[in-house]
Amino acid sequence: MIKIYKILPLLLLTLTGLNSVAQEKIPEVEALLSKMTLEEKIGQLNLLTPGGGIATGSVVSENVEAKIKAGQVGGLFGVSGPEKVRQAQEIAIKNSRLKIPLLIGSDIIHGYKTTYPIPLGVASSWNMELIENAAKMAAKEATADGINWNFSPMVDISRDARWGRISEGSGEDAFLGSAIAKAMVRGYQGKDLSDAYTMMATVKHLALYGAVEAGRDYNSVDMSKVKMYNQYLPPYQAAVDAGVGSAMTSFNDIDGIPATGNKWLITDLLRKQWGFKGFVVSDYTSVNEMTAHGLGDLQAVSAQALNAGLDMDMVGEGFLTTLKKSVEEGKVTEEAITIACRRILTAKHQLGLFDDPYKYSDTSRPKKDILTVENRTAARKIATQSFVLLKNENNVLPLKKDAKIALVGPLANDKNNMLGTWAPTGDPQLSIPVLEGLKNVAPKAKITYAKGANITNDTELAKRANVFGLRVDIDKRTPETMLAEALKNSENADVIVAVVGEASEFAGEAASRTEISIPQSQKKLINALAETGKPVVLVLFSGRPLTISHEFNLPVSILQVWNPGIEAGNAIADVLFGDYNPSGKLTASWPRNVGQIPIYHSMKNTGRPAPTHQFEKFKSNYLDSEISPLFPFGYGLSYTTFEYSSIAVDKKKITQNEGVNVSFSVKNTGNYDGEEVVQLYLKDEVRSITPPKRQLKGFKKVFLKKGETKTVTITLSADDLKFYNSELEFVSEPGKFMVFVGGNSNAELSAEFELE
Ligand code: BGC
Repeated sequence: MIKIYKILPLLLLTLTGLNSVAQEKIPEVEALLSKMTLEEKIGQLNLLTPGGGIATGSVVSENVEAKIKAGQVGGLFGVSGPEKVRQAQEIAIKNSRLKIPLLIGSDIIHGYKTTYPIPLGVASSWNMELIENAAKMAAKEATADGINWNFSPMVDISRDARWGRISEGSGEDAFLGSAIAKAMVRGYQGKDLSDAYTMMATVKHLALYGAVEAGRDYNSVDMSKVKMYNQYLPPYQAAVDAGVGSAMTSFNDIDGIPATGNKWLITDLLRKQWGFKGFVVSDYTSVNEMTAHGLGDLQAVSAQALNAGLDMDMVGEGFLTTLKKSVEEGKVTEEAITIACRRILTAKHQLGLFDDPYKYSDTSRPKKDILTVENRTAARKIATQSFVLLKNENNVLPLKKDAKIALVGPLANDKNNMLGTWAPTGDPQLSIPVLEGLKNVAPKAKITYAKGANITNDTELAKRANVFGLRVDIDKRTPETMLAEALKNSENADVIVAVVGEASEFAGEAASRTEISIPQSQKKLINALAETGKPVVLVLFSGRPLTISHEFNLPVSILQVWNPGIEAGNAIADVLFGDYNPSGKLTASWPRNVGQIPIYHSMKNTGRPAPTHQFEKFKSNYLDSEISPLFPFGYGLSYTTFEYSSIAVDKKKITQNEGVNVSFSVKNTGNYDGEEVVQLYLKDEVRSITPPKRQLKGFKKVFLKKGETKTVTITLSADDLKFYNSELEFVSEPGKFMVFVGGNSNAELSAEFELE
């Protein structure tokens, strides 16, 4: 009986064909593999983050130096700086038997030292060239500091603003998310991975991490395959198509199997269906966490992860400490370990580390490549394009450069919350506060400042959010004293600019919220400012869509700035004073209230669709809320206005595998030059599985001078009409299609065509 148990996993392995996923064989790698002991191969599958001796990272992995010498480490993260990286590589090259260089990883999520806006903000630019260049700049800085492998892009689709990590992704839409995924991979990896200015990218977190139940981080995910394939998986696949070098598994389970040990996900889908040739790394201790998920002890879960196709174990050392035993007991094969090791060695080969292990250790580079004027200028530009003008009451914006401005709010003179969450390589102290930025851009403006309120008065919330430093300082003065000071400060002003919203660590990892409104302390301040009768501009910081129905209904203007990064204050001033006319558009719908979540533009019609702004009994709606979001996907205003007209399709009838060109005119009808993100939505009128009401299928960012008209053409390819049907076949079906074009997902100008 015992024997059968031992043989069974091996039989299953052979039958399910793990070994059949072809991996390119590089002679240099094969020669090395042939010399390696089982222990040395297992060593390559181990990723550690050291502390003390050779690194500044948090002290979590022990005896790292000794392990490198013993050939027990494939890569490190949390080590940076050319000297430190050289030191680490030297330990591997000079002291380990086979002299295999290390991968040096890092989380460079929105810039290395020149931090640019959080990804949800960058996505709001809808500017693929800008996004690619931002990633390229991050790669240039990070490689100058010794990093050759980045844990980005994070492409998890999320329709749940409670989830703190919505800040790290591109929002709710798979089409836009796929375009961004590709742009980021291109930016990080360039054309040649062995170039010392490019680094290997990691698409993460495979998969569906953004769909955790109730928006609670690390929670379970349960989703139909049809929904996965159509709405959540495309951005991961897009990154694979763009040639991403590695993939990271997610913490959540999928169909009851944690992603890290999920063979369907890692081997069948990622490698076999999508043709991924790189290596797969776990998330931080996500191998070990399979025990808490309920799948067995460390040896069992490590074997499961390897057999599922995982190549590298991040920090947990489950592979390092149990795989040999599992080979001896017949639970994994040495062949499976060799395959994983081959993938990791291949990555090192692609990075050129075998030719020169010190190629990322050039001490002359940091000064030349990091935090340069050029990079800071780029970060400022990216930030300006990420801002979304949500409301411009009485066209109070842009402000005059000689205005009397009362600047108030807990984030108005703050450095700690400018960068945003998950910018571990950035230094908040280098960021430009809003007060400083306004003075830089408008030296003639008369600016007075008062804090007015704390970010929150909830000490427990502040304590929980403050894990990464003192980002939520609570003033010792009473709320009343602070408010009185702000009101006094505003008395002689032409306009009040209130810089309010979330602290950086109110969003991000392990920062889910059940309430996503502006904190109470600040609401009081905003209400009081609105009551002064003066023009009020809210500059709103957040790492997620917020519920701001109340503030929206006040007589205030609202500029959403996310967390803008190192150039925060300057970029905000550029937009407030009109040096840049805002062009950002939301990439996730903003709900009116938490009860509407999940809410997104590509929802289905249902069998009982309700009218948008009116209640009807026995329709799909709520007794106590509208069904529409407060701000739809794609929404964002400009200081000018745009008018869409003259839509036409070049063919009224098409056959399978044909595309359609959709043309229309856009006119700048306002008083400023400006950029507009023109968007195209498609509706498949009849098909075998219920279609979304509409889906984004094209966009362009168009610059129009005041009064100018341009004709825009967006091509819908044959693939744009396709979807995954119940059999998970990618097909298009005959029938009528509607296209809508405009400046947000409520676009009304439409045309139709038929697929025969
Ligand atoms: C996060 C990953 C990150 C890793 C390493 C994890 O907690 O989920 O996104 O890459 O830590 O820092």
